[in-house]
Amino acid sequence: MTRTPAIEAEGLVKHFGDTVAVDGVSFVVPEGSVLGLLGPNGAGKTTTVRMMTTLTRPTAGTARVAGHDVLRDPAAVRRSMGLTGQAATVDELLTGRENLRLIGSLYGLDKAYIRRASDELLERFSLSDAGDRIAKTYSGGMRRRLDLAVSLIATPPVLFLDEPTTGLDPRSRVELWEVLRELVADGTTLLLTTQYLEEADQLADNIVVIDRGTVIAEGTPLQLKDQSGAAALVVTVSQAPDLEAAQALMRPHVREVHVDAGARQLTAPAEGLGHMTRIAGLFEESGIVLDDIGLKRPSLDDVFLHLTGHRAEALPGTDADEPDQPDRQPDHQPDHQSAGDPAGEVSR
Ligand SMILES: Nc1ncnc2c1ncn2[C@@H]1O[C@H](COP(=O)(O)OP(=O)(O)OP(=O)(O)O)[C@@H](O)[C@H]1O
Ligand SMILES: [Mg+2]
Repeated sequence: MTRTPAIEAEGLVKHFGDTVAVDGVSFVVPEGSVLGLLGPNGAGKTTTVRMMTTLTRPTAGTARVAGHDVLRDPAAVRRSMGLTGQAATVDELLTGRENLRLIGSLYGLDKAYIRRASDELLERFSLSDAGDRIAKTYSGGMRRRLDLAVSLIATPPVLFLDEPTTGLDPRSRVELWEVLRELVADGTTLLLTTQYLEEADQLADNIVVIDRGTVIAEGTPLQLKDQSGAAALVVTVSQAPDLEAAQALMRPHVREVHVDAGARQLTAPAEGLGHMTRIAGLFEESGIVLDDIGLKRPSLDDVFLHLTGHRAEALPGTDADEPDQPDRQPDHQPDHQSAGDPAGEVSR
């Protein structure tokens, strides 16, 4: 199946003085699909999005959105897209509804349409009750949702979301994923940046992994997991005292065994289905009772570690390692910034 690309990046490069923020990034996003642009802090995600949405001019290369070139026809690009930036851009002194109306009228939409669409969007993002309160009184999650609602008022066919769920609690995050899935089901093309592997895994049809301004891998979530090497054989014994006997039984048949006493689990590199079946047979004969035996695919987190040498950001509440990059820019705090994402470039 060939679909028209809704977004194309072609050799995008961006220098800020001596800093090479983006160093030749290319990819294609077919219409109606979701691309996850995945990378750690400072990888160049926001800069890439800013070039593709006409907010900053590429040092080299170009991009097309809905067929329009960002350099030759920036106005047409802006008409075809919506953007929710990394920092909240809602006007804090206006109500949620007024924010929607303001942007709707800037797009030149007619009043009756704006009124109807605002009600629908407030409803869709669970903001109906708060719609007539000024945004200053909103929680971080509510502002994030309003931000997204605002970027949808003109029903753009292409939507760019820069870390849409950073700062949201787990429930709001799952709710937002649901809304995004509905948008895609209705035909919207989505490009979202994220540091969260689970988010990319949940939403993206294709993933482009960038690190230090370059693409280091791309593919479907499944392809990326397959690339990063072997699956593991995981055996769970029913009774903790059996762990030692189980380990002794496996040892001659595997390269190494890792024991997790708390989980009553033994993990070893898997060498295919036949290998697993043979080991299952050995357990059958041994009298050691198992709760479970199976093959575990590498997670996207394993993929990321394999590719970059460091773990990606964990979703809040999980316990993966912290990213180890002291020389990069500090964490952003979108919920505490009230100023909009400036269109101009600020040298740091
Ligand atoms: N306006 C700017 N002036 C100078 N350097 C910049 C500017 N914007 C970005 N950079 C630098 O470019 C690199 C890429 O930054 P960018 O914001 O694109 O990364 P990111 O992947 O979005 O990171 P994060 O996950 O923290 O949002 C960083 O080294 C950053 O410090
Ligand atoms: Mg960013």
